[in-house]
Amino acid sequence: MGKILVTGGAGFIGSNFVHYVIANTDHHVTVLDKLTYAGNVESITHLPGERLTFVQGDIADPSVVEPLVAASDVLVHYAAESHNDNSLHDPRPFLDTNIIGTYTLIEAARKHGKRFHHISTDEVYGDLELDDPERFTENTPYNPSSPYSSTKAGSDLLVRAWVRSFGLQATISNCSNNYGPYQHVEKFIPRQITNVIDGIRPKLYGKGENVRDWIHANDHSSAVLAIIDKGRIGETYLIGADGEKNNKDVVELILSHMGQDNDAYDHVVDRPGHDLRYAIDSTKLRTELDWKPEFSNFEAGIEDTIKWYRDNEAWWRPQKAETEAKYKEQGQ
Ligand code: NAD
Ligand code: TYD
Repeated sequence: MGKILVTGGAGFIGSNFVHYVIANTDHHVTVLDKLTYAGNVESITHLPGERLTFVQGDIADPSVVEPLVAASDVLVHYAAESHNDNSLHDPRPFLDTNIIGTYTLIEAARKHGKRFHHISTDEVYGDLELDDPERFTENTPYNPSSPYSSTKAGSDLLVRAWVRSFGLQATISNCSNNYGPYQHVEKFIPRQITNVIDGIRPKLYGKGENVRDWIHANDHSSAVLAIIDKGRIGETYLIGADGEKNNKDVVELILSHMGQDNDAYDHVVDRPGHDLRYAIDSTKLRTELDWKPEFSNFEAGIEDTIKWYRDNEAWWRPQKAETEAKYKEQGQ
């Protein structure tokens, strides 16, 4: 049994990973999370207390980070400011958490000689044309578009430099767009599901032709565990489940599964610099670490996710009005 320190474990994907580790391994988990607007401790408080310790704190604060890193065997770093739209209106927290926070963690991991896994995004590679036959691979050059993706790219490069210059025992994964339970209602899929529940029409940025490569959060978690167990130090692995869909098709699917006409949505002002398409080639992860996704049926996954938001209104309701008020101010 090992001791895993999970940063951002009260967020969407981090909490899914905590659930996954507790269900599928004997590891003890310590979560370090600042509980920003995006963190919700209720996503993990029902888990068995003997398997989980929760610490509220900032990853950019060495006095918080140092003792937790010293007491752990492995660090898995999810904590981030994660929403592109927010980064376009107020970039500063993205620098503080994504850059300085990551720097603080890798310095502590280096000092204490700990194994470090860095969670990142495919958005560091920029975007692809709709008809480009290529997909992102581990060799695609970095070309981020937004304050969010550029700070994630910066954090990836710090980890790479710490591996090369200081021998940090680290791996990196860059995953495509996740969906599933416990995702904040600011993000595309939960925003539209909870809008329909509230009788608000879904909002599609621009023409809705932008493509995202969807993966269920559980599949992201199983891939991260495989990388921690079997990944080669210093390597980057792309995580994806061949789930390309354009935003219009996703909205139509949600509407049809929620008993609405499939054109009952509004087009709203587009996101500045909006990346057109992401697509992941996960051959390296699949062949080297023998990983494959379990949730290959996106429609069934969306149906489950709709059911989760219908059944767990108490979890998302406190964030909904404020989130929609912010979007309204931005014309979205
Ligand atoms: P999220 O916004 O739902 O959760 C982020 C968590 O980090 C929250 O619990 C928040 O309280 C915490 N946090 C923020 N700043 C902190 C700080 N300074 N100190 C400690 N905790 C802090 O994000 P998410 O969607 O779960 O994303 C998690 C990670 O996965 C991020 O690194 C993101 O870049 C990456 N990622 C996300 C996606 C996606 O589709 N959402 C895809 C690929 C990669
Ligand atoms: P989002 O969930 O913000 O993830 P990301 O920007 O990291 O891909 O958005 C997913 C896609 O959905 C993206 O193309 C922007 C679009 N979008 C909408 O069309 N309407 C919305 O209300 C939101 C939040 C996003």
